[in-house]
Amino acid sequence: MERVRALPLDQLRQRTSEKWREYPDDVLPLFVAETDFPLAPAITRALERAVRTSDTGYVASRTPLAAAFADFAERRYAWSPDPARMRSTADVSMGIVEILRRVTRPGDRVVVTTPVYPPFFDLVEEAGAVVERISLRDTGDGWELDHEAIEASLASGARAVLLCNPHNPTGTVHSAASLAILAEAAARHGAVVVSDEIHAPLAQPGPGFTPFLAVSDAARSIGYAIVSASKAFNLAGLKCALMVTADDEPTAVLRSLPIEVEWRTGQFGMLAAVAAFAAESDQWLDGLLLTLDENRRLLGELLSEHLPGACYRMPDAGYLAWIDLSALGWGENPSKRILREARVALHFGPAFGAEGAGHVRLNFGTSPEILREAVERIARMGPVSN
Ligand SMILES: Cc1ncc(COP(=O)(O)O)c(C=O)c1O
Repeated sequence: MERVRALPLDQLRQRTSEKWREYPDDVLPLFVAETDFPLAPAITRALERAVRTSDTGYVASRTPLAAAFADFAERRYAWSPDPARMRSTADVSMGIVEILRRVTRPGDRVVVTTPVYPPFFDLVEEAGAVVERISLRDTGDGWELDHEAIEASLASGARAVLLCNPHNPTGTVHSAASLAILAEAAARHGAVVVSDEIHAPLAQPGPGFTPFLAVSDAARSIGYAIVSASKAFNLAGLKCALMVTADDEPTAVLRSLPIEVEWRTGQFGMLAAVAAFAAESDQWLDGLLLTLDENRRLLGELLSEHLPGACYRMPDAGYLAWIDLSALGWGENPSKRILREARVALHFGPAFGAEGAGHVRLNFGTSPEILREAVERIARMGPVSN
């Protein structure tokens, strides 16, 4: 199997996206969730064709996107969602907000399981609801949903759970059994689950990925999944995501969304996602998974060698590493000092919730050379001087 190799630094520095423009050139950017890999060939071809033919208008009302995702889900997860129960929108964040707007009333509580992707807090508020934070349970070698706390929250009136599956920043892939318990609890209390599955294509073989809507009838009766090719295939700037349902009531909610929500889908995003979800991109995705598997292991080796005080658990999915640096005594938000002294940009731990004190999130969707250089730079900082 051919690995997907990251581009060299001089080519990456020519990019103009957030990852490559936020900081000066002496900083190694390992913060935002963009990757350093070239596009999958089928995506390049689809976008080149669109440019050649000036195919840059609005997205059509009928596109092959939903059917392409259904085929992808069948091949990759042995799950058969119905394209007639899906709608597209510009991105996963917009899908979350629009669904929450429909299923909650202003002031309703929505559970988020912290530490979590920081915009979740804003998205719940943007929908007019109120965030209820429930910590993931640390099992000693991983994290899991705290079902007792979630059940208590739903029993006392929380209307929704905004699930992150796989979870950002810990890389946890929730088990089918855990998802089934969550679905039962939500159904019992008349709440819904909105499952952000943006990192799902990057679940490593082994634990594998369970789509929330594949778990049980209860999950289908109260569940919404939001999916996208954007993380695995690095298409975030092209703006395309799919909201997926699997039972009549959630499908009716999707259909009740204004047509404008769908019109905001990017034409290039749709074309690229169809190419990403096509069978011809499977080999590329498998090659990427191999590369990410090597990188997550390399990061563990580099940290043991150069920063033995760092606590890191290999993620089961994605290219984000959640690293506890508390033992090094670098304070509440070590990423500040790391940026200033090592010139490496990591995501701030405390932004993910109170559990993130002393933590950083590192993006290893890059080359082994950049990863090695970043860890070595951080290790050279040494102890805090007084
Ligand atoms: C869990 C999660 N959800 C949503 C997003 C943002 O997705 P989008 O750009 O499609 O809104 C990200 C981006 O990293 C993410 O990690």
